[in-house]
Parts: sequence; structure tokens; C-alpha cells
Amino acid sequence: MAAGDNSNAIEMEDSKIPLLTPYKMGRFNLSHRIVLAPLTRMRSYNFTAQPHAILYYSQRTTKGGFLIGEASAISETAIGGPNIPGIWKREHVEAWKPIVDGVHQKGGIFFCQLWHAGRASNFCFQPNGQSPVSSTDKPITSKFRIDGTTASAFPAPRRLTTEEIPQIVQDHRIAARNAIEAGFDGVEIHGANGYLIDQFLKDKVNDRTDIYGGSLENRCRFALEVVKAVAEEIGADRVGIRLSPFADYNDCGDSNAEALGLYMAESLNKLGILYCHMIEPRMITQFEEQQTRHSLLPMRKAFKGTFIVAGGYTRDNGNEVITRGGADLVAFGRLFLANPDLPRRFELNAPLNKYDRSTFYTFDPVIGYTDYPFLDGIV
Ligand code: PHB
Repeated sequence: MAAGDNSNAIEMEDSKIPLLTPYKMGRFNLSHRIVLAPLTRMRSYNFTAQPHAILYYSQRTTKGGFLIGEASAISETAIGGPNIPGIWKREHVEAWKPIVDGVHQKGGIFFCQLWHAGRASNFCFQPNGQSPVSSTDKPITSKFRIDGTTASAFPAPRRLTTEEIPQIVQDHRIAARNAIEAGFDGVEIHGANGYLIDQFLKDKVNDRTDIYGGSLENRCRFALEVVKAVAEEIGADRVGIRLSPFADYNDCGDSNAEALGLYMAESLNKLGILYCHMIEPRMITQFEEQQTRHSLLPMRKAFKGTFIVAGGYTRDNGNEVITRGGADLVAFGRLFLANPDLPRRFELNAPLNKYDRSTFYTFDPVIGYTDYPFLDGIV
């Protein structure tokens, strides 16, 4: 390339907004920093990913873009809602394959989110109608679901015995192996939002007296055992974790969130995983924001890998958090759901489609799912 061309290319690069600058996340060369957040969409009938997800995910794929798949149940006891995909059986692996292929064909990098709902479940989702399992036997008392709707009361869970915990760790390991077999580039362990791992992490819920309860170290033990097992199985360079130390979703809060976040960040460094994905303290439910004096900065500084932030980000404050070094990548949920070409719209500073909350969790394979228009008007 002639020198003149080269300097032009550099000028082009300089004129990019921070969210659209490239970033090397371990072995993955990302062309921009706009991540598809893991979004439950409840369109996976029979707890199996469906062919309509091929279009949904490929619509949101860019060359070198990073996508995190929706929460996928790691075992029969992990399910917490209707039409959630699983990743524990051969049929699940086969069902995910064409979806992952679709993302890869367009040059995207795709991680599978591994999820266990713990006590945020109900008898109807459990094998033989049994009680959901948790770190505790206390039920969720709040009737507010994290999406802001109200639901009938959650049942009292059954407290896992100390001896049962290695099996749940093993379920995560097998699910990670399955995800890689399905073609995913890596996995994100769901340690956030008041689900099973969070139910161990947080002192408002974890009332155990064994080695998985009590001290901060003990409460983090289960999470770290899961991370270690998954990293051993598929390589630490393909593993991320999502955490929400400040959140109180699903009745799952902590009296010292910053200490919890810092302890996790430092322990994760020892395991050498690829990324840590944290939810901003301003998010009190999935959809509501509040003023807070808390910040993720101490955790960002402590964690040595890639740091992803999520929670009500926009083009402006997303650019700002990258510029000031508050994060490497920003995950977008609602905006990406409603704007399949979000990176392009941010590039052009184009207007955004409005999201329709009433179809976030409906079961239709098209409406509110793959029918949001692209900028050029084509779906
Ligand atoms: C979440 O992480 O907020 C989440 C996960 C699974 C669901 C719903 C919400 O089914």
C-alpha cells in the first residue's frame, strides 16, 4: 500500500467513535466494542434452541463482532422459565449447531451463556415437579420478577447438601464441553442476577454453615469451583463470567457488594479467565436505573483480563466509558434487541428503532424477534 493510502487508513481509524475501535480479547480479534448482551427471549420450544434463532443471531452479527447467547440451562434442574434453551443434552448441541454456524458465516464470535436458575424457578420447570434447588431453603419473597412484572410466589427451594455441590459443578463442566461441541467459541458463566451462583455469593441469601457459606471466601467457593472446572475443560482463554455484585434482583443482595466484587475479581485473576462482565450498580431491576454512589471502577482496576460492562448503556455513555478506561467492551441489551444493525447505526449516529417491551418474552418466532427493521428498511 502506498504511504498516502496508509496515512488515510490511520486517519479513518482516528475518526471512529471509541465503541467502533478494534480490540483484541485474548485470541479473538474484535473489530468493535459493541457486544450483544445475553438476552432471554423465550422462543426455544421444548427447551431446545430453534431454527428461527439462526436468523435472529445472524441479523445481529458483524464481522469481528462479539455476541453472547441467551441464558442456556446446564441441567434439568437449571430451568427457571418457559421456552429457555438447554445445553445439557445431545439434542441441544445439535440444535445450537446451525445457529452458531450462522454467526460464524458472518464472521462473528459467539459465546454460550451457562445458566442455573437455582431457587428462581418453580415446580412446573423441575423434574418430577420437585422443589428447585439453592444454597438456602428460604424462598424469594419479592413478587417482582427482575423484568419488572409481578409473578406468583416462588416456592421454597431445597437446600443443596454439601455432597451434592460437586455434581452441579460437574454439570457446568459438561455444559461447557457441549457448548464447544456445538461450535461456540467459548462460554460465559452466569453468576449474576440472583440465579444459583449469585445465591451462593450473596450474604442476604446464603445462610449455609458448611464450606460454601459464612465467610466471603466460603460464599465465593462454589462460583470459583465452577469457573475452575469450566476453564480446565475448555481452556481459561475461552471463559468469561457475568456478575452483578451490587444488584438485588430476585431478592439476592449483599451487605458489602464492593468487597464481594473485588474478591471475585482477584480470585478470577488467579484462574486466568478471558473476561469479567459486570452489571452497573445503577441497575436495580433489569430495566430500571437509579442514582448510586457506587461504581465498577475498583473491580475494573483489579481484574487483569477483558472487562465488559452492561446496564442501560447508550451510544454516548458507552463511548465515554471506553474513553475513560472504565471498560474494554460494552454490552447492549434492549438497544441491540430492537436494532439488529446497532453497530452501523452507532457509526452513522442514526436514529434507533424503539424496543417493544411487550414482546420481549412472548413466544412468537418472528414478532418482536426477527422483525425489527434494519436502517435500509429491509428485515
Ligand atoms: C437474566 O440474567 O437476567 C435472566 C436470565 C434468564 C432468564 C431471565 C433473565 O430466563
